[in-house]
Amino acid sequence: MMREAATTMTTTGLATWWLARGEDDLPAPGEWLTAAERSRAEGLRFAKRRTDFLLSRWTLKLTVAKVLGWPDDSANLARIEGRTAPSGAPQLHIDDRLAGHSVSLSDRAGCSICLVTADTTPVGCDVELVEPRSDAFVRDYLTDAERRLVGAAGLDRHKAANLIWSAKESALKVLGTGLRRDTRSVEVALAELNPAQRTWSQLEVRTNEGAVFPGWWRQSGAFLVTVCWPGGGPSPAPLEAESPIDTMRPSHRWVDRPIR
Ligand SMILES: CC(C)(COP(=O)(O)OP(=O)(O)OC[C@H]1O[C@@H](n2cnc3c(N)ncnc32)[C@H](O)[C@@H]1OP(=O)(O)O)[C@@H](O)C(=O)NCCC(=O)NCCS
Repeated sequence: MMREAATTMTTTGLATWWLARGEDDLPAPGEWLTAAERSRAEGLRFAKRRTDFLLSRWTLKLTVAKVLGWPDDSANLARIEGRTAPSGAPQLHIDDRLAGHSVSLSDRAGCSICLVTADTTPVGCDVELVEPRSDAFVRDYLTDAERRLVGAAGLDRHKAANLIWSAKESALKVLGTGLRRDTRSVEVALAELNPAQRTWSQLEVRTNEGAVFPGWWRQSGAFLVTVCWPGGGPSPAPLEAESPIDTMRPSHRWVDRPIR
C-alpha cells in the first residue's frame, strides 16, 4: 500500500468552486465571446479543437459569473475572459483586467470542468475517463509507489492508473509546467480508491522538491475529476445543486484514441 493521503476533513484553507458543462449544451458562438476569443475560435480548423476551446471558455465564464453572483447573460459572460499565458496556463481577466482569482480548466470526451479560487493561489484541475491504460503507460509515467498502488488495485487497475494520471496533471498545472515536466517528479497518494460516487475524497501530490499539494477527487460514472493546490482547503464548493457531469455520458466522438 502506498503512502496514504491525510484523511482528516479540512475546513480551513483556500475556498474554491467548481462547475462542469457538456458539449451538448454549448451555445452557438455569439455575443458571449470576446472579439479575441471569436477570432481564436475561427482560427481553429479542426471541429474537435474548436468545440473543446468554446466549451472550456463557456464553462469558465459560467463558473466565474456564478462565483461573482452575476447573471449569466451574454453581456456579462463577455466581460469574463480566460487568456492564455505563454506557459499555456489560463489567466482570468475581468473587464480587461487581470482578476484576483486563479482558474484551471480541463476537458475530456465532451465534458469541460473549471475550478476557480478565492484568491490568486495557483490551482490545477483535470478530468479523465476510466479507460484502459497499458502496462507501458504505468511503467513509463508512474513512480514505483504509484505502480504498486495500481498493481494492488485488482479490477480497479485502470481506474487507479487514470486517477493517478489525472492528479499528476492537476499538480503539473499548479506548477505551470504541464507535461514539459517529468510525470514521475510528482507523486500521488490517495486516502481511498473506492469512496461513494459523486463525493469528494482526499488526495495529496508531492513534488520531488518537497512541495505538497493537498487535493480532492471525485468519480461520476466514467468521469474522474481531480483538483489540488498548495496549502489545501475544503473540497471545491458546487455552484449548482446537481452537476451535469453526474448524468453525462462520455461523447464517443472524442473518446476513441490510441491506448497509451
Ligand atoms: C497542461 C496539459 C498537461 C493539459 O493536458 P490535456 O490533457 O491535454 O488537457 P486538459 O483538457 O486537461 O487541460 C487543458 C487546459 O490546461 C491548461 N493548461 C495548459 N497548459 C498549462 C500550464 N502550463 N499550466 C497550467 N494550465 C495549463 C489550459 O487552460 C488548457 O485549456 P485551454 O487550452 O482551453 O486554455 C498539457 O496540455 C501540457 O502539458 N501542455 C504543455 C506542454 C506541451 O504542450 N506539451 C506537448 C505535449 S507533451
